[in-house]
Amino acid sequence: MTKLKPRGFTGDQKGKLSIKEGFTFVSVKSKASEKDFTFIDLFAGIGGMRLGFESAGGRCVLTSEIDGAALETYSLNYSPDHPHKYYGDICKIKSADVPKHDVLIAGFPCQPYSIAGLRKGLKDERGTVFMEIIRILKDKKPKAILLENVKGILAHDRGKTFEYMVSLIEDLGYHVKHQTLNSMTHGNVPQNRERVFIVGFLSKAAADRFEFPAAIPLTKSIADAMEDTKVDPKYYYDERYDCYSEIKKDVTSKDTLYQWRRQYVRENKSNVCPTLTANMGSGGHNVPLAKVKDGIRKLTPRECANFQGFPKSFKLPKVADSKLYHQFGNSVTVPLIARIAKNIAKEL
Ligand SMILES: C[S@@+](CC[C@H](N)C(=O)[O-])C[C@H]1O[C@@H](n2cnc3c(N)ncnc32)[C@H](O)[C@@H]1O
Repeated sequence: MTKLKPRGFTGDQKGKLSIKEGFTFVSVKSKASEKDFTFIDLFAGIGGMRLGFESAGGRCVLTSEIDGAALETYSLNYSPDHPHKYYGDICKIKSADVPKHDVLIAGFPCQPYSIAGLRKGLKDERGTVFMEIIRILKDKKPKAILLENVKGILAHDRGKTFEYMVSLIEDLGYHVKHQTLNSMTHGNVPQNRERVFIVGFLSKAAADRFEFPAAIPLTKSIADAMEDTKVDPKYYYDERYDCYSEIKKDVTSKDTLYQWRRQYVRENKSNVCPTLTANMGSGGHNVPLAKVKDGIRKLTPRECANFQGFPKSFKLPKVADSKLYHQFGNSVTVPLIARIAKNIAKEL
């Protein structure tokens, strides 16, 4: 098996990132009152799920991520000085090499299930990686699991795909609950992002007690997530762009964000950021647009991190913006994961 050697490790494990709800992040260890538990981070991306679980007292004991660029961002933010293995392709991890852990977490690839995607479901090569989760669950039997995916997974093949996936988890003895949660209503982060969360416990009593976090007021605004300082001119739109006349006509309010949709501008009516997507990395399309005091520009990668609730201390590697847009679009809203993780940790 190829064990990846992440580049650019910095910092030390003692000062691991921890978060509080919303954009107020602190850089301290988990509170003594929070329960200590271990977890494995599958389809880890840049570690958004990991951040949420660490804030609930969890310790990551294995990471698997196939995309070297995502791992570069990941490894810049986490230290390896504890018994922690980084792996690439999940298909190549032998179950015997997976350490014992309490919780398996996985934001598995969403393309096969996305409404906007290919809708090939489990037959898509990328869909079959779900079976790797099932294999590890079967062989290691962690106490609990959290899986995350796009909302479209519920409707795929008239619900049959989702039903089948849940049945595979239940056949292993897990008691499963799922809910669709939105970052703006359940994470106090101003992004309209609906995702399905699947939680399972081996203990029926734990599953019965577990509750998904309730809705909370949205107190953070778009302005809270925007950079205060002047950003690089490359993010601005002007006459160099064919679409500029359309954009200038429609992008008029500082209180919301917009998206250029090939032929027209779409305004977000809820005064939040539209869903950040992985395809923001393809040529910068779909990166939301903002009216700022000195013009109209797209969000910077740091602002995308803010709209996913990543802490200000989260480091971005010096790589092409397209890679960072892709990574933050693919990631999760950290304060929302933190709330779910806290409720899971309570029942372990
Ligand atoms: C939806 S993203 C998850 C992002 C993650 N939750 C985060 O916070 O950044 C799915 C990830 O699965 C990774 N992936 C896809 N196939 C994989 C495989 N066979 N083994 C390991 N990782 C894989 C992709 O590179 C992608 O980063």
